[in-house]
Amino acid sequence: MFKNQLPIIRYYMMNLYTPPKRLSKIGESATLKAAEKARELRAKGVDVISLDVGEPDFPTPKPIIEAAYRALNDGLTKYSQSQGLIELRETISDNLRRLYGIEYLPNEIIITPGAKMGVFYALTAILDEGDEVIIPTPAWPSYFDITKFAGGNPVEVRTGENFELLPDIIDSLVTEKTKALLLNYPNNPTGVLYDRRDLERLAEVVERRNLLVISDEIYCRLVYDGEFIPFSKISEMRDRTITVNGFSKAYSMTGWRLGYIYGPKNIIKEILKVQQQTATHPPTFIQKAAVTALNDCENYVKEMVKEFKFRRDIVYKGLKEMGFKVQKANGAFYFFPNAEDVYSEPEKFSEHLLEKAAVNTTPGTGFGKGYEKYFRISYATSREKIEEAILRMKRFLNLH
Ligand SMILES: Cc1ncc(COP(=O)(O)O)c(C=O)c1O
Repeated sequence: MFKNQLPIIRYYMMNLYTPPKRLSKIGESATLKAAEKARELRAKGVDVISLDVGEPDFPTPKPIIEAAYRALNDGLTKYSQSQGLIELRETISDNLRRLYGIEYLPNEIIITPGAKMGVFYALTAILDEGDEVIIPTPAWPSYFDITKFAGGNPVEVRTGENFELLPDIIDSLVTEKTKALLLNYPNNPTGVLYDRRDLERLAEVVERRNLLVISDEIYCRLVYDGEFIPFSKISEMRDRTITVNGFSKAYSMTGWRLGYIYGPKNIIKEILKVQQQTATHPPTFIQKAAVTALNDCENYVKEMVKEFKFRRDIVYKGLKEMGFKVQKANGAFYFFPNAEDVYSEPEKFSEHLLEKAAVNTTPGTGFGKGYEKYFRISYATSREKIEEAILRMKRFLNLH
């Protein structure tokens, strides 16, 4: 009886709900979708090696976990200030001074439920309907969708052959609708880090064109060569920059959902409204545990960076041996090779590699227009798995 009614129920549900236009513009997360495919194969018993996830494979450092337990037992189970625990904001403020020599007061910082939410807050707080956001590509796929969700239009600008920023081209794309530039370095998916000269040349355009900058610095602690310079530290950029950061990558705290934003007080005040009317704040005991991350876990970060650097070198060597055109990554845990010179159907490289060699990478399509022949490798997995994955790739390419 009930079974017979299903088509009728379905018909009514379809009529009851049509997604709003705002949602029809955005899609599923391309990176999460790629990981999902591997999960499905694994469920069927295939021994898939995942080089797709943007998540450190290390456990969250023990002192952070113990601090969270303590915080729960101490009763930190109630609301905190909506801007975030003052103790954590003070610790972040101290850290920014100690690590980079930049000064942000606790009231210029907001604790957010992850960096992704930080990007959403920042864009929501600055965009009017139809405003444009310039996004150098390849870029983390969520930037495009979050910009649209916040009412803006993403304007893609390609980087150079070595994924370097091209300030003149950025300059030429600025219109009266351009509100902001969205930067990310060390970069996902390329691992590229910009140096002072790159940043100063860009800052000149930002200043002259009167733009705001959202600088996503989530990978700032994962740097293997060169120096990380926060964009807000570049001359005249402090008042124009909203920086997004978080605990996911540096402290292997992806599931804890904790990030932070800092920037000019007038913008932070607006962003706080968005947090107050949505998340309220991230969980109080998790904020408390993050104080321990910043104060007591420097040795864990250093060890993790050492290991990532080692793996980066293995992957780089392997990719070069296979003949890939690839830019050496200075940070984060990704490479973004071009499959063109190595595989006859470069657009299908990722798909075929998964099907025939059980190695999952992320296809380049989601990272911006014109990157169909590229793919992203994440080396946030063990050395053994990386070495096995390289062997499988070589076999897939008939190089062994
Ligand atoms: C560039 C970039 N920004 C932000 C995030 C999201 O970080 P969180 O886990 O803190 O939301 C990621 C995660 O992959 C990322 O790659």
